[in-house]
Amino acid sequence: MASRASRRSQTEVLRTVRQIRQYSPERVPDEVVERLLEVAQWTGSSRNSQPWHFIVISQPGQLRQISQLRTPINWVAAAPLGIAIVLDGANVPSEAYDEGRVTERLLMGAHLLGFGGGVAWFGDEAQQAEAKDILGIPAERTARSVVLIGRPTSIKDPRPDARAGGRKPLSEIVSYERWGSSKG
Ligand SMILES: Cc1cc2nc3c(=O)[nH]c(=O)nc-3n(C[C@H](O)[C@H](O)[C@H](O)COP(=O)(O)O)c2cc1C
Repeated sequence: MASRASRRSQTEVLRTVRQIRQYSPERVPDEVVERLLEVAQWTGSSRNSQPWHFIVISQPGQLRQISQLRTPINWVAAAPLGIAIVLDGANVPSEAYDEGRVTERLLMGAHLLGFGGGVAWFGDEAQQAEAKDILGIPAERTARSVVLIGRPTSIKDPRPDARAGGRKPLSEIVSYERWGSSKG
């Protein structure tokens, strides 16, 4: 049985997962990619439908093309590896939920393995269509995002219009027993 302190440090690992946008150019080893794909494979999904397919992208040319879809994802060009998430396109709301779950697990898995991950959305429908073209994805599938993986060199957001970091205080986002009620 893990001690209380070690359980706390395990959840601390989860709490410190951040969006990584700056990576060292070093290759992500195959065994790391395999581990992450297994983590993705075992993610729970609505009715265990497993509505996904994953495209491992290690060609800099493809990542560069994706990075050019829109400015907020220009950092994708310098990532050593991407895992694009393709959904069946059969049930849009539940697949969006499943996509979020699998994305988060890839980010957490990368962090636990000493790497880092970042999610990049392709953009609007036209940009999604372009991404499908770059990756050879059939038009009827849903493809919205790619998770980039690599060794982090910084946790900073290098973009000129960087989002503010940090989080809202718990007191602002949590109620007890009834909406708006504080503890005790
Ligand atoms: C649905 C979703 C889409 C996102 N799309 C992008 C994106 O296209 N480009 C990007 O740089 N970050 C993207 N992010 C990352 C968020 O900006 C990031 O999670 C947030 O700023 C918190 O970052 P932090 O955990 O490093 O503090 C996305 C996150 C989510 C959940």
